[in-house]
Amino acid sequence: MDAITIEGLTKSYGADWPWRSPIIALSDLSLSVKQGEIYGFLGPNGAGKTTTLKILLGLMRATSGSAYVLGKPAGDVRSREKVGFLPESPYFYDYLTAEEFLGFYGQLAQLDRSNISRRVTELLELVGLSGARTRQLRKFSKGMLQRVGLAQALIHDPELIILDEPMSGLDPIGRKQVRDLILGLRERGKTVFFSSHIISDVEVMCDRVGIVVHGRLLANGRIDELVTHQGAQSVEIVCRDVAIADLPLISARATRVLQQGRQCLIVVASEGMIEEALSEVRKQGGKVVSITPHRGSLEDIFLRQASGAEPNPHIQSRVA
Ligand SMILES: Nc1ncnc2c1ncn2[C@@H]1O[C@H](COP(=O)(O)OP(=O)(O)OP(=O)(O)O)[C@@H](O)[C@H]1O
Ligand SMILES: [Mg+2]
Repeated sequence: MDAITIEGLTKSYGADWPWRSPIIALSDLSLSVKQGEIYGFLGPNGAGKTTTLKILLGLMRATSGSAYVLGKPAGDVRSREKVGFLPESPYFYDYLTAEEFLGFYGQLAQLDRSNISRRVTELLELVGLSGARTRQLRKFSKGMLQRVGLAQALIHDPELIILDEPMSGLDPIGRKQVRDLILGLRERGKTVFFSSHIISDVEVMCDRVGIVVHGRLLANGRIDELVTHQGAQSVEIVCRDVAIADLPLISARATRVLQQGRQCLIVVASEGMIEEALSEVRKQGGKVVSITPHRGSLEDIFLRQASGAEPNPHIQSRVA
């Protein structure tokens, strides 16, 4: 059983108001999250990330399609008990202390009194807030609030943790702490599904990612596979015993040429241009020292998809 299964999810806002044209927030979105993995749901502002998360938690109904969480329909109480959630803009009861706030959520999760005080101590330790246990939340910094919000999501030791932009508003140290915390959850066998638009956070943590743009999933799979599928972004050819001046054809088409003593460096835009370059080098008596393709990064994929390119079936990973 997958931790999350989403099939053909579509959500339009305002479909009930005939005098306004509806906003299509999600369009035929399908993905699955396996148990024990960290899945990054990446997308620009307004892509439909929060909408998807709210549907998964049963806070909102989809227009069509289906969503299952831990084998039960989204929102079903039997699965909801095993899910922890950090909302995008959590509401905090300002005058509560960190311990009262977490205790309150412990009660909501129906933990008994002794369990609550043990969990509160453990969690404050885990998110590095033990020293602020009795401080009111209104005196917390944004990063501290984000961390106490995370502790709240974990109070009932859930199997699946759904986080909406967990790194938002955090400084690099805070981001690293949250990152380590999420990685620690995976070590304990938990599943984490989180949304973000910070590519580097997704890149270093996630087993798999999905890129959502305008409500459509444009890429889905393991990062290394997504990057491999898109082919080389450029190829570096190093050769020797030839001068760039003797390579007019390739010099005209290369993105970069550089002579360094007996060696020259030629950078071409695609793998298709390698043969052409090599044949000219050989014709002039040069020798090829190395050919290095440079793959694009997740950032390249994200920017290309987010800038309105059509979905590319080749970067829909086969293991997705
Ligand atoms: N309650 C609502 N009523 C009408 N439209 C909405 C509502 N909530 C979201 N939308 C619209 O749905 C689309 C998706 O919004 P959503 O909040 O899911 O995006 P997001 O990916 O979470 O963005 P962000 O990164 O800014 O948080 C946007 O066009 C947004 O304007
Ligand atoms: Mg959002």
